[in-house]
Amino acid sequence: MHTLSQVSAKTYSTFRFQQTLSELTELSSIQDLELYNPMATPIILGEGSNTIFLQNIEKPICRYIAAEKQLLSLDSNYAALHVEAGHNWHELVSWCVDNGWWGIENLALIPGSVGAAPVQNIGAYGVELADRCLYVDFFHWHSKKVQRITGARCNFTYRDSIFKQALAGKGIIVAVGILVQREGVPVLTYSGLDNLTENPNLAEIYTSVINIRQTKLPSPTKLANCGSFFKNPIISAEQYTNLQKCFPTIPGYTIDDNLIKVPTAWLLEQQGFKGFKQGDVGCYEKQPLVLVNFGDGTADQLIALISLIIETIDSHYNIRLEPEVRLLTKEGSLYGE
Ligand code: EPU
Repeated sequence: MHTLSQVSAKTYSTFRFQQTLSELTELSSIQDLELYNPMATPIILGEGSNTIFLQNIEKPICRYIAAEKQLLSLDSNYAALHVEAGHNWHELVSWCVDNGWWGIENLALIPGSVGAAPVQNIGAYGVELADRCLYVDFFHWHSKKVQRITGARCNFTYRDSIFKQALAGKGIIVAVGILVQREGVPVLTYSGLDNLTENPNLAEIYTSVINIRQTKLPSPTKLANCGSFFKNPIISAEQYTNLQKCFPTIPGYTIDDNLIKVPTAWLLEQQGFKGFKQGDVGCYEKQPLVLVNFGDGTADQLIALISLIIETIDSHYNIRLEPEVRLLTKEGSLYGE
């Protein structure tokens, strides 16, 4: 275990705002966690690809950096993997593809750590972590014990889980169990993947996902960003039908008989936010759902942009957008996450 004091948040968030983190502790074993005794409930950080520091943070921050992986079982159909939270997510996907194991190839190139993946139930191109998660090992601050929570009990829904709800602030994810398949079925429902050959192999899907992401999304190493900034809102079928009367081309994906998911990117593009810049922050020119820091952006500029977007979309569509990214201030998270 080692603790750093007064570190720059620039290194710890891919949005790269210039704030100071008072105390950041990196832990690399369960023994470290048992000995860790912070002054207040710590903020948990992975690779910082979904967290923006809006102010200097005085609360303790901790990162669990153990990153081993283990093949728990392998039979003619399945491989069960146990992966520690500090492992990089994309490296895990690549390793599975190299081994010929199907199941998470559509989640290639998602930035961040394995431990962060269950928190917001990462998802892309027709697959969510929820579809492949066997269990999550969760260390409780209070009891100092690790609890194994089966995937079914993680309450996974769209960009949400028990770790953002009942277990928020109660502990830290230390490992994730993942089930992959030796004979997989390609998931090609996403419109960008349906032009692959009829029976694409694992590597073709993996490469195709990487190509789509690299074409549409800015690399955080080149242009500071945290991926999709807002969630796609889920509205009632009734509200959707009413919106269609005024906006006949509004896209919507059916969740069930009563609920429709609307792409925020479409709402933003319609309202002129694609490529919009204000101060040194803005909406990415190829995908407006991704907010970017052009280099010298400030927290005040970002808050002003978020407010402008939320108010504009609310006034035109009566839809209140919610950030998907975690926005941290001295007091806690903005927008309740
Ligand atoms: N659209 C526009 N203009 C644009 C881009 C998109 O109108 O410039 C509309 C189109 O109708 C398009 C729709 O938005 O069909 C959806 O766009 P896209 O396929 O790019 O996906 P998204 O809804 O914007 C979500 C996830 C992404 C994930 C992709 C692919 C959320 C918040 N975001 O984005 O996840 O990669 O689907 O599955 O659900 C992330 O979470 O950081 C992330 C990148």
